[in-house]
Amino acid sequence: MQALEPEDRTRAHESLKYMSDVKRDVWRDSKEERSEPPCCLSGSNISYTVSERVGPWWDLSSYRKRWTRQILNDVSFHVESGQIMGILGNSGSGKTTLLDAVSGRIGHRGTLLGEVFINGRKLKREEYQDCFSYVLQSDNLLSYLTVEETLTYTAQLALRNHSADAIKKKVSSVMAELSLSHVAHSVIGGRVFPGISGGERRRVSIACQLLQDPRVILLDEPTTGLDSMTANQIVVLLAQLAQRNRIVIVTIHQPRSELFKVFSRIAIMSRGELVFCGQPEEMVDFFSQCGYECPEYCNPFDIYVDFTSVDTRSSEREAATFNRMHEITSSYQGSAIYHSMLGKIVQSLQQEDKPAIPFKSKESPSGSAKLEVLLRRTVRNLSRDRMGVLMRLSQNLIYGLFVAFFVMRLDNDVSKGAVQDRIGIIYQSIGASPYTGMLNAVALCKPNKQLDIYLTPFHWYVTKSWPSTVT
Ligand SMILES: Nc1ncnc2c1ncn2[C@@H]1O[C@H](COP(=O)(O)OP(=O)(O)OP(=O)(O)O)[C@@H](O)[C@H]1O
Ligand SMILES: [Mg+2]
Repeated sequence: MQALEPEDRTRAHESLKYMSDVKRDVWRDSKEERSEPPCCLSGSNISYTVSERVGPWWDLSSYRKRWTRQILNDVSFHVESGQIMGILGNSGSGKTTLLDAVSGRIGHRGTLLGEVFINGRKLKREEYQDCFSYVLQSDNLLSYLTVEETLTYTAQLALRNHSADAIKKKVSSVMAELSLSHVAHSVIGGRVFPGISGGERRRVSIACQLLQDPRVILLDEPTTGLDSMTANQIVVLLAQLAQRNRIVIVTIHQPRSELFKVFSRIAIMSRGELVFCGQPEEMVDFFSQCGYECPEYCNPFDIYVDFTSVDTRSSEREAATFNRMHEITSSYQGSAIYHSMLGKIVQSLQQEDKPAIPFKSKESPSGSAKLEVLLRRTVRNLSRDRMGVLMRLSQNLIYGLFVAFFVMRLDNDVSKGAVQDRIGIIYQSIGASPYTGMLNAVALCKPNKQLDIYLTPFHWYVTKSWPSTVT
């Protein structure tokens, strides 16, 4: 790993203050040399627009009209390895859309403009997902598997040419890195029975991503729904992951003020625009120069997000806050912080000896191997669901009794409906039972789909999804 800058070192020490259960020895390991060269990620003039119909389909006159909605407007940023960038902003400001745009998950409904560069090399849109790992906001893990099993199956689905021993070692090292070793044999848990805690579930979702050794990790609101202590621990953990020569970009709502120094870069979004992006110290100076001081004893994150948000409760407020937001955005775009960031993008594009694009390990196993792993994983998960197994058995038993009851009373007299009875019973026997299987398939579709998004490009999943949805 490259030597830590004094500023990074201070940040690292600050972060240590807030991690109670994160193992210090793993933190020390993070100072070990990483063989990969440092990398940088830049987004240049990213804009996203969608064309929407003005009214609902039952109001034909307005339904025929369309309007164009700008969801992201000319967003540029630059992050280097070792840094963690927090994206703040009020709800609907475009944080998730920006992550989707950068990670290549954005749909084809709208028009995406702008470019993403990694190490100064332009990424093709189909390459985005081979480079970046994305942790979704919701965890969709199978409830009856243990943490270790979840990671082992994920590794088996993601990595080819790895022996069982190598996968075991990989899983152990990722669990150690994310402080999950103490819950390795605990089940994930679900709504009706207890398992690991919410923070640990989030860490398992992050661990699933780390198995592929990504250099860039994007996380959408990893702390939402967690108590503030656990949320802090997650952010500190992410800062540590970034320190290991990775780039971490995270969207976050209402971080605690103690995290101010943990972030290397803070971006504030409002109405699809990047109102500010810079170091935490620069943020305080910048807003003070704009005339928006953070009062003493207030959380700067909350205050600056308030200053830049558009209040839509009344048209007067909306106009006033919109103007304020634009004023701050214009000041940012005229500031030295913005120009230095643009300079870094240009510098990375112009450097002569550009490092290679750090793709994730793409050695995904064949379709049949994946199907076999998915079947084993699903069978293990289902077989541990005692209530589910009992219900399925009793459901089939009761259904069988009904069929037997009808078969016993079948009449042979054609005039009394013998043919219709037989057709009815055949229809019921063939028609009803597949529904049970279909319902199971629907229930398991989400976790399997999420898992495959982790592992393969989204479009691959859409077009070749059959192995994942088999139950
Ligand atoms: N494909 C789309 N079509 C139409 N509108 C969209 C599309 N994607 C996003 N939007 C709209 O863009 C805005 C920004 O959405 P986004 O999910 O990025 O916000 P966010 O900042 O992540 O909000 P939150 O904090 O609530 O998660 C929202 O108003 C959303 O409805
Ligand atoms: Mg969001």
